[in-house]
Amino acid sequence: MTTTPVLHDIERYIPVIGDVNQKNAIAYQLTRGAVSTVNAVQMAVAESYINGLEVPDSVLKALFNTCMPVFFKYFPSLLAPYDWVLKETNQLAEGSKDLMKVQYDMPQAMLNPMLGDWDLIYPKYSMGLWQKGAANLEESQKHMIDDMIEKMDIQDGDNILDFGCGWGCVANYILSKFPNVRFTGLNLSHWQCEYMRAKMQDPKSYLSSGRFTLYEGDMNTAEFTEKFDKILSVGVFCHVGNLTNSFQKLASFLKENGVVFIHIITVRTPNNISSPFTHKYIFPHGRYWNYDAVPSHNKDLKTVNRWYLNGINYHKTFAAWLENFDANQDYIKQLNYGIDYARFRRIWRFYLLWLGTNFGTCDGEYNGNGQYLMVHT
Ligand SMILES: C[S@@+](CC[C@H](N)C(=O)[O-])C[C@H]1O[C@@H](n2cnc3c(N)ncnc32)[C@H](O)[C@@H]1O
Repeated sequence: MTTTPVLHDIERYIPVIGDVNQKNAIAYQLTRGAVSTVNAVQMAVAESYINGLEVPDSVLKALFNTCMPVFFKYFPSLLAPYDWVLKETNQLAEGSKDLMKVQYDMPQAMLNPMLGDWDLIYPKYSMGLWQKGAANLEESQKHMIDDMIEKMDIQDGDNILDFGCGWGCVANYILSKFPNVRFTGLNLSHWQCEYMRAKMQDPKSYLSSGRFTLYEGDMNTAEFTEKFDKILSVGVFCHVGNLTNSFQKLASFLKENGVVFIHIITVRTPNNISSPFTHKYIFPHGRYWNYDAVPSHNKDLKTVNRWYLNGINYHKTFAAWLENFDANQDYIKQLNYGIDYARFRRIWRFYLLWLGTNFGTCDGEYNGNGQYLMVHT
């Protein structure tokens, strides 16, 4: 929501509406107080569903479709459930071990079929690009990587770092297209690394070409002996709490004329957002940076281009994941999630419905993905 300068000045004194970062001390505290009520309501809805309240998907979707446009357009400050969502944290990434436990190291036999696992396109846990006419999830992920190749201007012979590389999908696809590209992947998830190690032994996989190096480790402590022509990071910076320091780190890994390409979930609201439900059950310490956050935290890197990708692309990706999750119930209900399966299933269905619907609200114009191309300052 844009306001005139005079209105903007008055807004500083009014709680809840507009940009919470600009409020005076009293309006800020009153806004934070109102957030506690919104948090409590959100958790009550989520936990009623998780604990067994029978609600058809259509009712949940209608509820989210009714509320979220109002929050996005008029009350985005209420979508910042904790103070830390609005600020940078000390560490690059907080709570990484918890994140692996509740999310990325969940049984891969559940995650992989949900995300899709094909010969060339391995499980990819990020937005597919549907707006160019993709017929299915696999094609949408190919379109997304093709689009990234173009935006990053990848050249045969590039030495590329994938910062938070998932299952090696982007690396495998790009290695298949460029016979002289080299890739290094960094990932903290042990089971995703095990997937890539198996592919590195599989002659059908481009990860076995000798041009792929894997580092299992935490981005907080990652160091490399070589420098890279291109650094890409897809769907990872929602787990990064300090943009300034992380860009300083990436800059230290980058060759003088290199480029960094960051692809993240973003919101076109004045403040960053998160959700108490996702913090507790899905992505501990996760936040969605507002669209201006990356360029406004540039010190060691500067943003030379950026793109907003409409949220409908993620809405469709989440719908495909939910369909896969439901279609594989007979098999995945036998796996060990450390909690009762019925509860686990409801937590994950709520997550897929909640985020999937939110990306589609407001025609995808508020909650989408951002891509940023950066170079040395
Ligand atoms: C949403 S997934 C995206 C994966 C991949 N880039 C893709 O598009 O499929 C986020 C990835 O970041 C990794 N990750 C999260 N926190 C990390 C950390 N502290 N250090 C290293 N990797 C991390 C996760 O294990 C996961 O592979």
